[in-house]
Amino acid sequence: MKYNFDELIERRGTHAIKYEAMQELWGRTDLIPMWVADMDFRTPPFILNALRRRMEHEIFGYTAPGDSYFRSIIEWVGRRYGMTARQEDIHYIPGIVPGIHHALCALSEKGDKIMIQPPVYHPFRQVIEGTGRVPVCSPLTLHEGRFRMDFDRMAHDLKGCKLFILCNPHNPGGVAWTRDELATVASLCEAEGVTVISDEIHADMVFKAHKHTPFATINPWAREHTVTFMAPSKVFNMPGVIASEAFVFAPSLRERFYGYLEQNDLAMGSVFSYAAAEAAYTEGEEWLTQMLDYVWDNICLVDETLRREMPRIKAIIPEASFLVFLDCRELGFDSQDGLVDFFANGARLGLNSGDMFGKEGTGFMRLNVAAPRSVVTQALKQLKEAYQTL
Ligand SMILES: Cc1ncc(COP(=O)(O)O)c(C=O)c1O
Repeated sequence: MKYNFDELIERRGTHAIKYEAMQELWGRTDLIPMWVADMDFRTPPFILNALRRRMEHEIFGYTAPGDSYFRSIIEWVGRRYGMTARQEDIHYIPGIVPGIHHALCALSEKGDKIMIQPPVYHPFRQVIEGTGRVPVCSPLTLHEGRFRMDFDRMAHDLKGCKLFILCNPHNPGGVAWTRDELATVASLCEAEGVTVISDEIHADMVFKAHKHTPFATINPWAREHTVTFMAPSKVFNMPGVIASEAFVFAPSLRERFYGYLEQNDLAMGSVFSYAAAEAAYTEGEEWLTQMLDYVWDNICLVDETLRREMPRIKAIIPEASFLVFLDCRELGFDSQDGLVDFFANGARLGLNSGDMFGKEGTGFMRLNVAAPRSVVTQALKQLKEAYQTL
C-alpha cells in the first residue's frame, strides 16, 4: 500500500499543543509550527483500525496488557535489533519522561548525581531537578557536522554519578550512536559503577546508512545495568495515546524498578494504548519505511535549500528522526532572543530554541520536518525572505 504523506490535515481546534500553544509562546498564531516533536501526518490506518475495533466492544474497563501485546514487542526488537527479551523483562510505561522520572525515584536518592549530555532533550534535566537529584552535564562536542561524545571528559564527569541518562539516538543532535561509541560508554560506566537509563524513543527512525544499537545489547554488563525505554508513540505518530515500554534484564534491577511501579500503582495503561502499540509493532514496517523515505527527502530539501540559498544557516543532518538542528551561529545575533525573534517574527516559523536543550544549544534552532512537503517548502520560502533582510 502506498501511504499519502502529502495530505494537509487541519490540526487547529484539536488542542494539539504544537498549534494551540503558539499564542502563549510567541504572542501570535500565524506561524508555521515546526517545534513539538510529533508529526503532521495521519496516524497510520492499522492503528486507527485497531482503536476502532477496540472501541466497538463498548466496555472500557481496567485492562491488562495481554500476551499478544508483549509478543508484538518481543518480535519487533528481536527482528529489528537482535535484542532478545522475555515477557518478564518488559513493562508497559505511561510515557517515557514519566518512566525516567519513576526510574530516578526507584534507583537513586535525593542529592544523587545523574549525568546527561547536553544539548539534550530538556525534560532530562527537568526530572533530575524535579526529583531533587543533581544534574551533571557532560556536553557533546560538534565536530565536522556531527555531535560526538567527549570520552575523556565523560570519564571524569561520571565519577560519583549514580545514573547516566543516555539519549540513543540523540535528540536534538540526531546522532545514532555506533556500537563502538556505545561500547566505550559501557566501559566508562562499568568502571564507575554507573547504571544507564537509555532513552531509545527515536530508535525506529534511523536512516538507511545508519543503524540503531540498543545500549543493552553492547555486552553482558550493559544488559545487566541498563533500563531501556522504547515506544511506538513517536515513530507512529500516536504520542497522545501514551504507550511506551521499558526493558530491564537483570532480576535485581527489575525488582527495584518494576517493584516501585507496582507498589505505587504507576504503570496502568489504557485499553487503547495496548491495542495501538500492538498494531504498530505487528503491522508497522511498511508504513515506517515509507514515512522515513518521505522525511529523508524533507531533510535533503532543507539541507540543499540552505546550502544554496541561506549558507549561513547549516543543517546538522540527522542520522535518525525528523528533527533537524540548525546551526545559526553565523547569522551573528547578539542573543538567543534575537535569533528566536528572527524565526518567529521575521520568518513566521515556530521552532524550538536551541538553548532549551542546554546552554550548549545557544545559536541553534530545532526544526521538525515531519510535515507534508508543501509545508516544508513554504517554511523554507518564508525563511529565505527573512534571511534576505538580514
Ligand atoms: C528523547 C525523547 N524522550 C522522550 C520523549 C517524550 O516521550 P513521552 O512523550 O513518551 O514522555 C521525547 C519527545 O520528543 C524525546 O525526544
